[in-house]
Parts: sequence; C-alpha cells; structure tokens
Amino acid sequence: MTDSALTSARSVLEQAILSYRGRPVGTVAARDPKALAADNYSECFIRDFVVSALVFLADGKPEIVRNFLETVLELCGQELHIEGHEIQPGVMPASFRVERDGGEEHLIADFGNRAIGRVAPVDAMMWWAVVLHIYVEATGDRALAEREDFQRGLQAILALCLKGSFEIYPTLLVPDASFMIDRRMGVHGHPLEIQALFYGMLHTIGDLCSADPPARDLIGAARKRQAALRDYVRECYWLDLDRLTRIHRFRTEEFGDGSENILNIHPDSLPGWIEAWIPDRGGYLVGNVGPGRMDVRFFAQGNLLAVLFGLTTWAQTQKIMDLYEERWDDLVGAMPVKICYAAVEGEEWRVLTGGDPKNVPWSYHNGGNWPVLLWPFVAACIKAERRDLAERAFRIADERLAAQVWPEYYDGRTGRLIGRRANLNQVWSAAAFLFAHKLLERPELLAWFPGNLARE
Ligand code: GLC
Repeated sequence: MTDSALTSARSVLEQAILSYRGRPVGTVAARDPKALAADNYSECFIRDFVVSALVFLADGKPEIVRNFLETVLELCGQELHIEGHEIQPGVMPASFRVERDGGEEHLIADFGNRAIGRVAPVDAMMWWAVVLHIYVEATGDRALAEREDFQRGLQAILALCLKGSFEIYPTLLVPDASFMIDRRMGVHGHPLEIQALFYGMLHTIGDLCSADPPARDLIGAARKRQAALRDYVRECYWLDLDRLTRIHRFRTEEFGDGSENILNIHPDSLPGWIEAWIPDRGGYLVGNVGPGRMDVRFFAQGNLLAVLFGLTTWAQTQKIMDLYEERWDDLVGAMPVKICYAAVEGEEWRVLTGGDPKNVPWSYHNGGNWPVLLWPFVAACIKAERRDLAERAFRIADERLAAQVWPEYYDGRTGRLIGRRANLNQVWSAAAFLFAHKLLERPELLAWFPGNLARE
C-alpha cells in the first residue's frame, strides 16, 4: 500500500509546482479540476508551501525553496494599501499567483486584500522565518540568510511583532481567522497556534539575525519576549485534571499581586463537556486565554507545534501524547488528525462562526479531520519518543488517503466522511503524507526545527 501511495503523493506534488519566469517558485494549494471551493486554490499559499518545502529539502532539492523564500520577500517590497490603510513592513502575503499577460508573467500577492473576509495572515511571516531556518539547517547555505535583503526582512518581522501595544501579556494579540483557520471561528485574541509559531519564529530569528546594530536591540528584546512567552503559555494555557480542579475552585475578583486566578476566569464559563472528557492521564494547552476567558477547545496544530518547537515542558509533552492515546477516537479517529475538539454547535456556532455554513459542526475548521496535520503529529510523536503513536496514525492515513485522492479534509465526529466541500488532490495532504513517511524513516530530520534541543 505505502509504495503506491507514496508514488501517487509524489506525482500530486510534482504536478503542483508553480513556475515564474522559468524558475520553480512554489506549489499550488490544490489540483482538483472539479474544485467546488474558491478559485484561490490555484495559488501558492505560504503556509501550504511549508509542507512542500519540507519534502523538497528532505529530497535534497533546495532550489525551489530558495526561490520561494526570495519571491515572497520581493513581494513584500511593494507599497500596498488595503482599504486606504498602508500595510506594515514585515507583513507577508497569505498567497500569491502568477498572472500571464501575453508573453509576460507577473506575480500577484494576496495580503488579505483579496481573501474571503479580508483576513490578514499573521502566520505567513512566521512560517517564512521558520522555513528560512529549516532551509539553512538542511543546506548549510547561511549566506542566503546573511544577505542584506533577508536581514532587512527578518528585522522587519521582528520589529512588527515586538512593537509596543496596549498589551500586558507576552502573547501576541491577533484578529479571528489570521492563521490556518482562516475563517471566523472565535479564535481571535491569543490563539495557541499563533503563540506556538511566534515562539518558533523568535527562536529562529535569534539564530539568523546578525548581531550587529540595529538588530542587536531587537534580538535582546526577542530573547526576553521568548522567555516570558514560554513561561506564560506553560502556566496559563495548561489544562489537565488537576488544573481543572483548581480552576473549578478558583476564587474570583482577586485584585492586586499574588492572585492565583490572574485572568479572573469564572469557573462556570467553562463548557460542561470538559469535566467528563479530560482523562485522568493526559493534558494539553487550551486554545486561547484572555481576560475572563479560557477557550478549552483542543487545537491540534497549536499543541503539536508547541511540542515540536519546545514550548512545552517535557512533562507536558508526555501528557499531550497521553491525551492522544486516551482520546484517540476523538482526536485521530478515522483520519489523522482532528483540527479542533469539540465542535461548536447550535447558538454558539451561530455566534462564533457568524453562521458559516462551511464550518457547521464536525466539518472543515469546526472539528473536521485534516490529513495535513499528519506531519506535525508524526514529528511531535517522534520528538516525544512515542513512535508507536506516529506509526499508528500513519497506517490509518495509508489505508485511505491515496485511494480517496488526497482530500483536503474529512467530516464527522470521527472523520469518516470526505469533507463536503473538500478539494481532491489537495497538495499539502499529499506532501504531509510524504514528509511523515520521511520522518519515520529518518527521525534525524527533526534536528532542522527550531527548538529541537529543548527538553526541560
Ligand atoms: C483553506 C485553509 C487554509 C489553507 C487554504 C489553502 O483556506 O483554511 O489554511 O491555507 O485553504 O489550502
């Protein structure tokens, strides 16, 4: 099974390569001739290309990754206004496409100015920096990162993320839909996935930025922020039975120093399902926290990247793996991996998603199962020394993914149905399968990721 699936995945990836003026610069998001979804699936998304980049680098084909990094950086050189508002240096596009006008080719980027819902992708600049780090680790080509335009790009990202704001927390405040979940889903504020990426990005930039002025001050600020972010996330996002019990008995309205319930979480704001669902063994980082707010939904990508980038302690890492084992049907089920648990339903669905029919309960972002998450799952399991779980998930994907032509996502509580509006030949589904397979064969590839040495 695996060999023919790998051949099929490879052909999806190769046919997805996007060329610009004769050079490969990226991969399109989907190659589904009967796509039911938006026409931007023929564009190269930054976050989708990350998975392709991992495969190309593992295959010893760095050229396309280098071209991609240069192309995205060049796109940021444009002066751009969205709704009369100038976009800040450091912001990177969600996607770009090649437009052919007679014999000429042009690149057109989407900084959120064309996206459904006009969403700005906060994750794009973070993924770009992480891919640059991985490229340097994989190829040893440090000269690319040292180039003046790359140093300027890295500093712009850092300056933007560390800019003063009204915030008290070390986490990054972002609007709804600014990352992989790019539709309204009640994920505004301080979503875990952005915090994990932010942490990975800060790590990366510390390694890649030259220590000359003016970067020196930025790097110092980045190190401080990274440490504060790590301590805050480990403490305030963590949930297991013991902490749930403590929250249940929290005092509220505590003013001043020395309070335990610093965010003033009212225990009754937590949903009823959490008490029965949280196992004796296991724990995880919750989806979002803020003043008076704890969103206890389990978001896979945030937890898995937190493990991969060393944002969790070793004990927390083990407990996240225990949770997967204890709640396997809910979090993996018939297709690895569930994007978020539990789905929001009824009135909560109407309010949080804005009545979005694509995000009905147990579909798409609202509790669907996404094959692309196989790669961070396998990576996190290997890092946690739980290879058995990685192999188990890979076998499940191997049974159906290629035969069902690489769907974008699956629907249903356990993910048994191909997603109602899922594309087929979704490139990151195929690339994730390829890279997961490579990680199982060559676990040493984990050394490419920022934070790979952290085991606290
Ligand atoms: C959907 C996903 C987004 C992805 C895009 C292209 O919009 O939510 O994360 O980048 O499709 O695959």
